[in-house]
Amino acid sequence: PLMVPKSLMTKEEEEDLGSGKSRVSIFFGTQTGNAEGFAKALAEEIKVRYEKAAVKVIDLDDYAADDDQYEEKLKKETLSFFCVATYGDGEPTDNAARFYKWFTEGTEEDIRLQQLTYGVFALGNRQYEHFNKIGIVLDEDLSKKGAKRLIEVGLGDDDQSIEDDFNAWFVSDSLKESLWPELDKLLRGEEDTSVVTPYKAAIPEYRLVIHDFISEKSMDSNHANGNAAIDIHHPCRADVAVQRELHTPESDRSCIHLEFDISGTSIRYETGDHVGVYAENHAEIVEEAAKLLGHSLDLVFSIHADKEDGSPLESSLPPPFPGPCTLGAALAKYTDLLTPPRKSALVALATYATEPNEAKKLKHLTSPDGKNEYSQWIAASQRSLLEVMSAFPSAKPPLGVFFAAIAPRLQPRYYSISSSPRLAPNRVHVTCALVYGPTPTGRIHRGLCSTWMKNAVPAEKSRVRSGAPIFIRASNFKLPPNPLTPIVMVGPGTGLAPFRGFLQERMALKEDGVELGPSLLFFGCRNRRMDFIYEDELNNFVDQGVISELIVAFSREGAQKEYVQHKIIETAAQFWNLIKEEGYLYVCGDAKGMARDVHRTLHTIVQEQEGVSSSEAEAIVKKLQTEGRYLRDVW
Ligand code: 2AM
Repeated sequence: PLMVPKSLMTKEEEEDLGSGKSRVSIFFGTQTGNAEGFAKALAEEIKVRYEKAAVKVIDLDDYAADDDQYEEKLKKETLSFFCVATYGDGEPTDNAARFYKWFTEGTEEDIRLQQLTYGVFALGNRQYEHFNKIGIVLDEDLSKKGAKRLIEVGLGDDDQSIEDDFNAWFVSDSLKESLWPELDKLLRGEEDTSVVTPYKAAIPEYRLVIHDFISEKSMDSNHANGNAAIDIHHPCRADVAVQRELHTPESDRSCIHLEFDISGTSIRYETGDHVGVYAENHAEIVEEAAKLLGHSLDLVFSIHADKEDGSPLESSLPPPFPGPCTLGAALAKYTDLLTPPRKSALVALATYATEPNEAKKLKHLTSPDGKNEYSQWIAASQRSLLEVMSAFPSAKPPLGVFFAAIAPRLQPRYYSISSSPRLAPNRVHVTCALVYGPTPTGRIHRGLCSTWMKNAVPAEKSRVRSGAPIFIRASNFKLPPNPLTPIVMVGPGTGLAPFRGFLQERMALKEDGVELGPSLLFFGCRNRRMDFIYEDELNNFVDQGVISELIVAFSREGAQKEYVQHKIIETAAQFWNLIKEEGYLYVCGDAKGMARDVHRTLHTIVQEQEGVSSSEAEAIVKKLQTEGRYLRDVW
């Protein structure tokens, strides 16, 4: 039994206790919705197995309004799970950042959490350098602070099947023996400890209400406007003011320069920040989805997480979008239709397949025997949810199940802002490479947001301009406080984006009469005639003395590939001289290839230039990082 002093409890918690319920808190730190999804799945599972558990799924950002409250709140927790993702350069997700910082750095007089039993499931990708760093550190710190580890930290790898990792973590045969019996002890009343319920997958569902009509206003009700705080949950619509292609017609790829007009909104940003953009699914995709679901696009409905009498549904999750809403709008704005479906989605689809063969095949794909088929036919083939649904046309789930258990919520896409508010106070510039190409099934995959940007109609060309809900995500990718400090920037391709903002800021400083320190920019592209984006602007920055030197690597001009790191090696002495005393090094772009290779190059250069051993060089690079002088904005 879990004992908490009554005086420390909130009214809600006292009610839980009064009803004989034990509280389970499941926290999530999510960037793309995966960790949130797993937190909910875990909650569903615990609810199904333990009637006496009062399970709460908690966004770490919402846990406490103020850092001072964390300790008191945490001390009241008795059984908690944390599903936390690591993203970018080994960083916590935005919604976990404040909690993580407080927990790992801010708790100087160590708090003791002996009454807490916990489990951590970490989400990450093995291709990245800091694989699952946040989950691993959190798990260790919880243990150091005296909390009792219920289960070894789960290491989810998005490069393989993270869903399998998750399932293995909390339901697999080996752990079933350790986790569930432990939970049985904690969550079951003494009278029924002998009964162990078998694992039973719950299919969450929303209550659906069909409406006769819809007012325009209710459609955009979750978009903040005017002076309300703008964040991921309350984006603000911004029109597209400018849109143009940056590649020349000779290029077979596309890269878009787009400017959002933020005048008249309360959106503010700093050089180096990111913008989150909610793009809509393409009309063709939306039509196909409605057809597969067997409903008209005009159907007006709302979804609810409670019963008609207001009591919560057995498996209640907060609805992903405000209602009432048309099916067309729900599918376009809020529903991820193109990601390969998770196994839990296939389980739900199988339940509604009226063709026995289809039900059988769907079930097989989710079974241990069908593991390879799932990896091949779904994951490796990047088969989208829509493709899967069209392969099993008899499976037409009710909309309440479709939105709760099958289709994930559409996530915003993030871009490094390529302007500076000093030069463009009313605009947010984006530099976006079009994602376009065939998948193994022969489908042409069109990146959701980049396709939207490619097709966006700017105000300068038409009165019916495009627009999207957007919000700003702050970053620590900032210029040094002193403009005289030397800087080295490395940004091939669209990795150039934040540096264009940096250079605009330096230009504005210079125009104000501020003296600038030396700066190097390493840029890389395929071919000068095709994809040397912003060439004129960059040359102008050189002419104006805003960049001391622009060094470009063309990867597809000569017989040999030439990359930014090759250019860095050629200028090793100059490169390291700028950085070693007080300079800043910035790297932006692809994390798995470029940023990793540049990191290795840096290590080699330090070793050679300083004449030190490999481990000494590593320590020097680490020091640069901890001093905040080696910053990376990578994806
Ligand atoms: P490639 O396409 O010819 O391989 C911007 O995308 C530029 O970065 C391109 O010129 C691209 O070259 C190059 N690039 C690809 N992989 C890289 C890596 N691992 N390191 C540095 N640059 C890379």
